[in-house]
Amino acid sequence: MYRVAIITSSDAGYRKEREDASGPVIREIVEQNGYQAVSYVVLPDEQQMLEEEMKKIADEDLADLIVTTGGTGFSPRDCMPEATLAVSERMVPGIPEAMRAYSLRFTKRSMLSRAAAGIRKKTLIVNLPGSPKAVRECLEYIITELDHGLGILRGTKTNCARK
Ligand code: MTE
Repeated sequence: MYRVAIITSSDAGYRKEREDASGPVIREIVEQNGYQAVSYVVLPDEQQMLEEEMKKIADEDLADLIVTTGGTGFSPRDCMPEATLAVSERMVPGIPEAMRAYSLRFTKRSMLSRAAAGIRKKTLIVNLPGSPKAVRECLEYIITELDHGLGILRGTKTNCARK
């Protein structure tokens, strides 16, 4: 069972001015898909804090997958993609490309999400947009393929034999 760490990037959520609805949606979807949610934090839109949390999880091997929500838009404080790029050793552009392409059927504004994905050590990091609706649309679409990538990353799968 792969372990998932959930990070919400939200100033209002961190200050407890707004309840974070998106982190719980991530937890629900990952658990439905056979993953174990091992941690959940709400952090402000502060690049250094986001980087430190992701580095700690990857470097101490606390999770196989980090799923983040929020901070991917154009607001001046949105910095989740920058934090992800800064800590990733290898980029995984196909995941956000797929999310954006699929999401165009729901809203053309999916093109406005700057979400990124990358790998640090043996941990995959995937950014999702901030709204619970967007989280559901994006995560339900990509999650079916993540275990294959995680298997290769973790060395439990060695080839890409197709179903
Ligand atoms: N993707 C999906 N699937 N559904 C959505 O409703 N909202 C978009 C986009 N991606 C959306 C989506 C909007 S309106 C924005 S501004 C960007 O995600 C960035 O969102 P964020 O700033 O909350 O991360």
